[in-house]
Amino acid sequence: MKIGLDQFVARRAALMAQMSSGSIAIIPSAQMKQRNSDVEYPFRQDSNFYYLTGFNEPDAVLLLMPGRMDGESVLFCRNRDKLMEIWNGYRAGPEGAVNDYGMDEAHAIDEVDDILPGLLNGVSRIYYSIGKDEELDQRVRHWLNLIRAKVRQGAVAPSELVMLDCLLHEMRLIKGDAEKEMMRRAGEISAQGHVKAMQLCKPGVMEYQLEAEILHHFAMNGARQPAYSTIVGGGANACVLHYIENSEPLNDGDLVLIDAGCELDHYAGDITRTFPVNGRFSPEQAAIYELVLKAQKACIEFAKPGVLWEAVHEKSVEVLTAGLIELGLLSGTLSEEISAGRYRDFYMHRIGHWLGMDVHDVGDYKVDGEWRPLEPGMVMTVEPGIYIAADNENVEPRWRGIGVRIEDDILITAEGNENLTAAVPKEIAEIEALMAAK
Ligand code: GLY
Ligand code: MN
Ligand code: MN
Repeated sequence: MKIGLDQFVARRAALMAQMSSGSIAIIPSAQMKQRNSDVEYPFRQDSNFYYLTGFNEPDAVLLLMPGRMDGESVLFCRNRDKLMEIWNGYRAGPEGAVNDYGMDEAHAIDEVDDILPGLLNGVSRIYYSIGKDEELDQRVRHWLNLIRAKVRQGAVAPSELVMLDCLLHEMRLIKGDAEKEMMRRAGEISAQGHVKAMQLCKPGVMEYQLEAEILHHFAMNGARQPAYSTIVGGGANACVLHYIENSEPLNDGDLVLIDAGCELDHYAGDITRTFPVNGRFSPEQAAIYELVLKAQKACIEFAKPGVLWEAVHEKSVEVLTAGLIELGLLSGTLSEEISAGRYRDFYMHRIGHWLGMDVHDVGDYKVDGEWRPLEPGMVMTVEPGIYIAADNENVEPRWRGIGVRIEDDILITAEGNENLTAAVPKEIAEIEALMAAK
């Protein structure tokens, strides 16, 4: 399952329609990164670059020049190279960039220093995402300096550098139909991975074995990489928000928190489920779990077009704080506890984030200083949690070391929303039935 060429062409056209005339956008690809010795990390294309090209090779630069008579989309990429292709695999080369990726013009990346500065001549504004990569920033400065060095010969150097992010990130924030389909599928695969982990889990299984089960399921379904490092935290490890050691045995009587999502053709799933290692919730675990679930369902119900991003977070604070008071974990009134922020001892993160090509996806949360309203096509996570530290002496010992988070991926629609990750159970009765049936 892949996003089609027509989408990439349309996205480039949509971006160029928003750029000023006589401007250029410079969008570099990701580079290979060394892991150790001569081993490299698996290549992951830059999300902005992939969004506009579908081109999955390193060492490339995309230029967009709206209104240029000789062609608006220009790609610099690696040349074909018989020997390198025998060792490292197929390269499209400049010819493939034109034939298969809809570019108007393409050149070898080796020629970028010769050709690109000339293309900047007479351009008034450059759109570029400065500050993401020191080395790339230096190269852009180098290209600019090359054209500046020629002003006495009549060259006109660009006078404005504008962040590309403002335009591009707004586009990425609102998902098109092909993206929604991809994210539905990423959500389904991710959900099935969680179901597999619930089915495999029992006391004595190692945290990394549940991770392995999930990653195996992702890979078997065409998602070779997760969208982020998988978290499998048994017992009090669930209270370490970014616990990725996944090295401990899972103990009878504990909960396990799994935060895992696959990446499918550069689109992320992001799911958290928390369930009992032995298949049965204790009364304290069930009480905390039901509260987090109540908050999560209330927030999902609430998330629809027009509702402010921040209001969804506030809803989670309200429901969780009220529940913490009811359970005796907080002792003030609701308004006192909310304004004093003591719920933060238990709920220290926010309700969620945008989701898309990046797990913490691009897009502003505020516009002109105000929290923005939700709009159809946005995808957000809804992931409240309660984490009671094992050494929290302000609560009765029976509560300590319980960590619960429940996370789903929510597509905002004209009517309300669609839960992309509903296929993994979250009701206590459903989880216990699933785990008992294995
Ligand atoms: N998995 C990262 C997050 O939930 O934000
Ligand atoms: Mn998340
Ligand atoms: Mn997550």
